[in-house]
Parts: sequence; structure tokens; C-alpha cells
Amino acid sequence: MNIFVTGAAGFIGSAFVRHALAADAGCSVVSFDLLTYAGNIENLAGLDPRRHFFIKGDICDRTAVNEALPDDCDAVFNFAAESHVDRSILSADDFVRTNVLGTQVLLDAAREKKVRRFVQISTDEVMGSLPENSGESFTEASSLRPNSPYAASKAAAELFVRAARQTHGIDTVVTRCGNNYGPRQFPEKLVPLMIANALNDQPLPVYGDGLNVRDWIYVDDHCSGVWAAFEKGRNGAVYNFGSRCEMTNLEVVRSILDLLGKPYSLIKFVDDRPGHDRRYAIDPSLVERELGWKASVSWDDGLKKTVQWYDENKPWIDGVRTGEYRSFYKAVYGMDLAK
Ligand code: NAD
Ligand code: TYD
Repeated sequence: MNIFVTGAAGFIGSAFVRHALAADAGCSVVSFDLLTYAGNIENLAGLDPRRHFFIKGDICDRTAVNEALPDDCDAVFNFAAESHVDRSILSADDFVRTNVLGTQVLLDAAREKKVRRFVQISTDEVMGSLPENSGESFTEASSLRPNSPYAASKAAAELFVRAARQTHGIDTVVTRCGNNYGPRQFPEKLVPLMIANALNDQPLPVYGDGLNVRDWIYVDDHCSGVWAAFEKGRNGAVYNFGSRCEMTNLEVVRSILDLLGKPYSLIKFVDDRPGHDRRYAIDPSLVERELGWKASVSWDDGLKKTVQWYDENKPWIDGVRTGEYRSFYKAVYGMDLAK
């Protein structure tokens, strides 16, 4: 089997490539990634060169995509994206380009090369925000109600995937997952940012009152869900993945400080994010029933593995908290990153 994975040098894409190579001994992977600030070739280190091949390229570049996509391809997995809400608030242009145009370019190439299945990696954020304490969860029937430019671009991408299936008969599956955490996540997102700052005894910036709720899932559980959707999903289906792990941001930050033995006094409440979604929660019962998938990593175990990875890989963190990242940090938080 041959698969094409975009965004493969990012956090989830790289975990997915490792998952696919382990899940099917006959699987060969072409990884395609532009290596933006969020892509890191080190995330793909140590893979068997007989089964894994990396190509640097832009999903918006038709020629590059057509050249890289194998002729006999079983599936495209589109993980490539601009993925951080705060960056989409600063400027949405790259989000529209990569997340929308890039997806359409991939759909066109998949059609031309008769790829057997197109798997679009989407997010629960396309469904907007849920009322606090309502007990309500997102299901596959929830409407698209994106609130951030990031979420709007991911929702638009889903609609292009739908249109490609309706119009051109491409076999498609869309996966929507909640907030991931785990090793190799770029330290602009909540969990790795708080770990990196706590390790350096720097303030942990919590937006607003810290009571926004996210539904957390360990990255390897997400990857096994995407694989299950590829193998067993219905053509045209959308699947929601979550691990029934709702927590407020303050609970998340405190558990990181507890694990590292650092004081809560490091928490610094900062101005709220504009348009900040209050609550995400996913009902995963469809995928549990239809795909036989279930999350297997608890928050306590997953967080322990994650904190341990960052603790043991300080050069990785120092390597990415440089140059452009420091200007981004200043722009979002109005303060310098000390280290
Ligand atoms: P990430 O930012 O860590 O990685 C994105 C990767 O895409 C990077 O390697 C980057 O170099 C690459 N990329 C960006 N623009 C590109 C382009 N034009 N051409 C080729 N490659 C390009 O993101 P992530 O957290 O690993 O997320 C991966 C996917 O999963 C995204 O589509 C995201 O929307 C989705 N998702 C993420 C989460 C989460 O919690 N992180 C949750 C649900 C869904
Ligand atoms: P994030 O990791 O950016 O994911 P998303 O916005 O896609 O859910 O943020 C997770 C939650 O943490 C979200 O409610 C915003 C909050 N947050 C902070 O309070 N401080 C921060 O510095 C960051 C990056 C996020």
C-alpha cells in the first residue's frame, strides 16, 4: 500500500506517519511538507528509508504536488495546515491559502491520479462553541459555525472536500478531532507552551478567566482514529473523535505545574483571546459504534508521557523558540520570552 501524507513534519502528521508504518507492515509513505515554522524534519527522524520518503513542497503548488503524488496511491491524508488560532487572528491570509486553496489543489491531484481515498483532517472547531455547563456535545450532525479565521478556513476546506465528492465522485472521509496533546507539538499551543515556560520558570499566560473548556485527546489516539476512518469509514462520512476528557484551561495548567513540581504563582492571567470559543466537547459514540475505535490513553498517562518528552528534549524546544517565534510571542502576549 502507498500513502501520501501532507503536513507530515508537523506534530500530528509525524505521529501519524509512525502510526501508519507500524499499523501496516506493507505500507510505504511519501511525506510531503513545506517545513514552515511549525514543520520540523527532526520529527521524522529514524524512520526506515525503504518505507518512508520525504519531499519538501507546498500543497498550493500544483506542479510540486503532481510530481510528488505517487501514481498508484491508496490514500492522501491531508494534515498540512496553518493550525494556530492566535496566528489566524494576527493575519488570516496564510490560512486561506494553505487550508483552502491547498486542499483544493490536493483534491485536483487526487482526482487526476485516481487516488483511492482522500482523508481530510479537520477539527471540532469548525462547529463553533458550545454553551458552558450545558452538557451538550458536538455530533456529526452539528452545524458548521466557525468563529476564528482558522476554524473558518478548515470549515471551507471541508466544503471543498464535500464538493469534490459530489461533483467529481472522489472517495472522501473527513475526521474532526478535539484538542491534541503529546510529544513534538509546537510550543505555541496551550500544553507545550505551558510546559516549556514552566520548565524555564517563566510566567504561564492564561487567557481571560481560564475557565474555557477543551476536550483533550492524546495524539496517538487521534492517529489511530484517522487510520480507522481510512480503513473502515464510509465514503462521504464525517467522523468526530474525542476521548471524553473535558477540562478547563486552568485545570490543564495546574496539572502541568503539579507534575513539574512548580508553583501555581507562575500562572499569569492575560487579556482574553478575541472571539475566544468558550467550550468544546465531542460525542464520540458514532466512531465507537461504527469504526470500533476508542481512545485508550488517559489524561494522566498522556500528560506524564508528554511532560517527560519535553523535559528530555530541551534542545528541541530551544531549537524552535528562536527568531520568528520570539516576534510572534511578543505580538500575542506583549512580553518578551526570556529564554
Ligand atoms: P502543525 O502546525 O504542527 O503542523 C502543520 C504542518 O503542515 C507543518 O509541518 C507545516 O510545515 C505543514 N504545512 C503548513 N503549510 C503547508 C503547505 N502550504 N504545504 C505543505 N505543508 C505545509 O499542526 P498539527 O497540530 O500537527 O495539525 C495537523 C492537522 O490536524 C491540521 O490540519 C489541523 O487543522 C488538524 N487538527 C489539529 C488539532 C490539534 O489539536 N493540534 C486538532 C484537530 C485537528
Ligand atoms: P490552543 O492550544 O491554542 O488550542 P485551540 O485554541 O485551538 O483550542 O488553546 C487551547 C486553550 O488554551 C484555548 O481556550 C486558549 C487557551 N490558551 C491560553 O489560555 N493561553 C495561551 O497562551 C494559549 C496558547 C492558549
